[in-house]
Amino acid sequence: MAGLIPQSFIDDLLQRVDIVDVVDKRVQLRKTGKNYSALCPFHQEKSPSFSVEPDKQFYYCFGCGAGGNAVGFIMNYDSVDFPAAVESLAAEYGLDVPKEATTKAEQKRQSENSRLLELLEQASRYYQLQLRKHPGKQAVVDYLKERGLSGTIARDFLLGFAPPGWDNLLKTLGSTKADQQLLEKAGLVIPRDKSQADPDSEDKEPDAPADGYYDRFRNRVMFPIRNNRGQVIGFGGRVLGDDKPKYLNSPETPVFHKGRELYGLFEARRSKRKLSRVLIVEGYMDVIALAQAGIDNSVATLGTACNANHLSRLFRLVNDIIFCFDGDDAGRAAAWRALQVAIPLLEDGRQVSFLFLPEGEDPDSRVRAVGKDAFLQSLDNATPLADYLFATLGKDLDLADLADRARLVKQAQTILSQFPKGVYVQLLLNRLAELVGVTVDKLPAAPGVEADTSARDAPATVEPPPHLQDWSRGNRRSATTRPGRGPDPVPDNSWSLKAIALILARPVIALSIKQDLSGLSRLNDQDTDMLLQLIELVRKEPHIDSYEMLGYFYGSPVGNQLTQLLKNEQITPTEGMEKELQEIIDSRLSSISRQAEIDRSLDILRDRLQQESETR
Ligand code: GTP
Ligand code: MN
Repeated sequence: MAGLIPQSFIDDLLQRVDIVDVVDKRVQLRKTGKNYSALCPFHQEKSPSFSVEPDKQFYYCFGCGAGGNAVGFIMNYDSVDFPAAVESLAAEYGLDVPKEATTKAEQKRQSENSRLLELLEQASRYYQLQLRKHPGKQAVVDYLKERGLSGTIARDFLLGFAPPGWDNLLKTLGSTKADQQLLEKAGLVIPRDKSQADPDSEDKEPDAPADGYYDRFRNRVMFPIRNNRGQVIGFGGRVLGDDKPKYLNSPETPVFHKGRELYGLFEARRSKRKLSRVLIVEGYMDVIALAQAGIDNSVATLGTACNANHLSRLFRLVNDIIFCFDGDDAGRAAAWRALQVAIPLLEDGRQVSFLFLPEGEDPDSRVRAVGKDAFLQSLDNATPLADYLFATLGKDLDLADLADRARLVKQAQTILSQFPKGVYVQLLLNRLAELVGVTVDKLPAAPGVEADTSARDAPATVEPPPHLQDWSRGNRRSATTRPGRGPDPVPDNSWSLKAIALILARPVIALSIKQDLSGLSRLNDQDTDMLLQLIELVRKEPHIDSYEMLGYFYGSPVGNQLTQLLKNEQITPTEGMEKELQEIIDSRLSSISRQAEIDRSLDILRDRLQQESETR
């Protein structure tokens, strides 16, 4: 369990900090009356709508709705979580974040993690040194050169060489038993008995030494993987030739979580003060080859599929994400999965597009074949998500055929309901109406547009604003949709658990929920029912605390799940928790009403189609 940062410290920190200084260090502010203004760092704009108010110690952007206090600004600007933002702000002001509230176990975990990071850093330096000094280095240098990489790029990405042999790293960094155990925890060495015990283990190495440990990475080009702060947290290692497996990756460790990290993100952020778009590719070598060609804004997932976590991290940095896939069946299947992951995150202003490469090519081979400019051109012409969506849905349909048009409407239904509220989904509905040949202006209002309080400048009309109308006809280039970023939507499957965790940590916040929740009870899902029970309980017993709450459910499956959740408690300041809970509930209620609105729009489309077929 993470230790709580005492509220008193946060209050104290915010007392000392001047938001004007904090922002001014990062964004150039201009004094305008008693406030300050600047070009907003959170969306792209030509005239400043970002304002900092010293009186309120608050910032706000009239363009995109971003706003908050100094801690919130750091969270947004550095895209870090709350504790990290407090930490970095405190450091800026020479304060230590108090550790008293940290549990013993947490302290132990933290010190072990920093030891692991130290070891990984040392390992990375060791591999880099081997690339310069090892007698066998020439083959590796030749290999990298043959793949078109310069020394500069190798240095920027900290490329290294794990020499052949069972124990090079082990001998260098594992002189004591304790160090060897840490090396194992860091994923750098493997215990011999483990590889013997599990015959199916990927780590199985029949020729490994009979006892102790052996190096995981041997005779491979090493690609260090860095986190947000530039710390090495793991490695990918590639064979020099065609042996199998081609890549070995670090296993999951306390500091390395494949499902969260993106290879190249640190390097991309470092190379540009402000990223405007990010390209998602599949491999290490794709990221590096693109950077070599001067395209330094690509990232790769680490051998896993791109998930919502990856995407919401990226959307905190940029509004424009381009997926790059092979043009083969596997690439198309991956693109369709990526589309489904992206849709719930597509708030207005964000866009996703797809670049399909010719069969057999990857970004590495492609950029080397066509060069930087042509590659950039193909990025500009990437297929917008909407085009890809409708092209895929309509693939086996004949839109001249009425039954097929009805089928298209039906298929679109489930997908459209996954989009967050906003004008985007209205554009898609219009597009669908156009595709099936029904007049656009007769559709009901865009679900949720008028209810979107986070977007003060959102048009309250049904029609897309003029600058978007082109877009609705599929013209991507003239199409920057309204910039805006609200809170990231909670993934569909876990929102009620998140809400439950919040209420458990601080039951009283449930009292702030005043809405009618009957829409939620119709969902018929176990977690949501549990959430409703908790809210009901707090309404009846407003002074109940977390443990009394557990008492109510003790021994039941709900109780067990609650205990588990309480253990995973997260750090959020009090006001933050209440707001977060509200946001979750609001977003769910509106998604239910949105679904109803979309169903209504689609019913109208279907009726029209029906009428049309009868009049023929
Ligand atoms: P090159 O052949 O060096 O150009 O590799 P690449 O970067 O083009 O990688 P590729 O498209 O073959 O694979 C994409 C990604 O999948 C890699 O970067 C790895 O993360 C992962 N991957 C590929 N092969 C393997 C493998 O054999 N084992 C594991 N664990 N991961 C792999
Ligand atoms: Mn490749």
